[in-house]
Amino acid sequence: MPRRTVLVRIPLLSRRAAGALVACAAGFVLVSATHLATLAAADTVSVSVDATKPGAKIDRNLFGQFAEHLGHGIYEGIWVGPDSSIPNTRGIRNDVVAALKALKVPNVRWPGGCFADDYHWRKGIGPADKRAATVNPDWGGVVEPNTFGTHEYMDFLDQIGSRAYVSVNVGSGTPQEGAEWLEYMTAAQPTALAKERAANGHPEPYPVAYLGIGNESWDCGGNMSPDYYVQQMKTYSRFVRNFNPAQREGSQRMLKIAVGPGGDGPRWTEWTEAVMKAWKGHQWSWDIDGLSLHSYTVIKFPPAFPSVGFGADDYSKILKATLDMDAIINTHAAIMDKYDPDKKITLVVDEWGSWYAPLPGSNPGFLVQQNSVRDALIAALNLNIFARHADRVRMANIAQMINVLQAMIITDKDKMVLTPTYHAFKMYLPFQDATFVPVTFNAGSYAHGSITLPRVDAIAAKDTAGRLWLAVTNLDPNQPADIDATIAGVTATSASGQTLTGPKVDSVNSFDAPNTVVPKPITASVQNSRISLHVEPKSVTVISVQP
Ligand code: AHR
Repeated sequence: MPRRTVLVRIPLLSRRAAGALVACAAGFVLVSATHLATLAAADTVSVSVDATKPGAKIDRNLFGQFAEHLGHGIYEGIWVGPDSSIPNTRGIRNDVVAALKALKVPNVRWPGGCFADDYHWRKGIGPADKRAATVNPDWGGVVEPNTFGTHEYMDFLDQIGSRAYVSVNVGSGTPQEGAEWLEYMTAAQPTALAKERAANGHPEPYPVAYLGIGNESWDCGGNMSPDYYVQQMKTYSRFVRNFNPAQREGSQRMLKIAVGPGGDGPRWTEWTEAVMKAWKGHQWSWDIDGLSLHSYTVIKFPPAFPSVGFGADDYSKILKATLDMDAIINTHAAIMDKYDPDKKITLVVDEWGSWYAPLPGSNPGFLVQQNSVRDALIAALNLNIFARHADRVRMANIAQMINVLQAMIITDKDKMVLTPTYHAFKMYLPFQDATFVPVTFNAGSYAHGSITLPRVDAIAAKDTAGRLWLAVTNLDPNQPADIDATIAGVTATSASGQTLTGPKVDSVNSFDAPNTVVPKPITASVQNSRISLHVEPKSVTVISVQP
């Protein structure tokens, strides 16, 4: 993935910083590194929240997850089988379900990833003992038992209270295979496939909320050119229907998401142009609702940065890389605006998160990594970026849910631990479907070697009950920050919430020490509706304001 070295992005600069820059309530500005003025670490961070100017809805789908048949993401992470000694419900582990239920996961993308374009759904239905074992050619060449298939996925969604985002096989499948899968899942009439579904234990049609038309079709999904993919997209959009009239209109309408870019160089802008141009001229017979974007926090491939046992160098480099998300979204949102000024098409960031070197001793094809304080900050910073782009970015899926990449949960046999990323997601729950509220602040900067980062980041929103929430991330690994927040449009008498940090930038939760990085209560002092909040170094804090 290309990275810019000349420019750095920082949120609003200090009013005392070089006067070359214009503050912008909506988000980030570009500034030449040579013009950066570094705030003294002890400076108070002035924050202005304007609740009189509500922005876009922060769609709860931005908190979506991704579960691929990869390593121990599905097998062991979710599925242990009904005969396992690990407590489970119909083969799905109870501890994981309870943890995910508490996270109010809006949707789960499945079965891939690259695996989606190798997946043939028929192998994953019917009696468990009759299912053919196949090979997972994408991830370690291991045996894929197919014991977790369509019915098990739907049962899992039901247990955690989430919605289906199914990626259909475009690379090695056919429109007919895809159409039949959708008919099998969604048909309400007594068709042969609906009857087969009933015979397999589910007479009622399944709800399918989102359909992905392939995955990374420019790479593992078939190495297609933009033009070739556009033709596939039209064909799949036309024929891979939802067969249930109740899921074809209104709020239940299944949305179709096309493969989009994987970065922000010319290769990717060409892709976005091709898909959006085709959409603009689309006929009655086909349509899409979303364009996918994949963008990982990774300095280079193969990923070489360790997920644990690192210091300030790696911390700064990785946080700088994660902030690239803002520029990548800007690039593609600008192209989308050209063809779709009404913002009908959602930019769906359906693969994002940190991607580090595999843990020593693990199968490199299983993408196993630890999850530290740094990952909690990565989660918060990306969620903040998505919130600032909430008018265009209305769905996102972190990669991946369990045991793979930037996971929420790590398991080992009967043991389970919640990661710092899990806790950050949980703290951000009030932002699901909340209304964005503009925030301006003097971010200042944290400099380490040649890397300069904003010292703090912040977003605010009003939840569905009208309560105001403020999220503050302190990127500085050494210095606390004192936040001095004024709020227009809301009377504040008290403010409190939770804060998340750990002893070191690479502190993790382990099976032996699961509470090293967990949220702790925090209270701000409030005087005349002015909020003073002290946040620790390398921390994520979310508070609500009581009137
Ligand atoms: O999340 C791991 C892999 O990253 C996915 O399978 C693929 O879509 C992407 O390249």
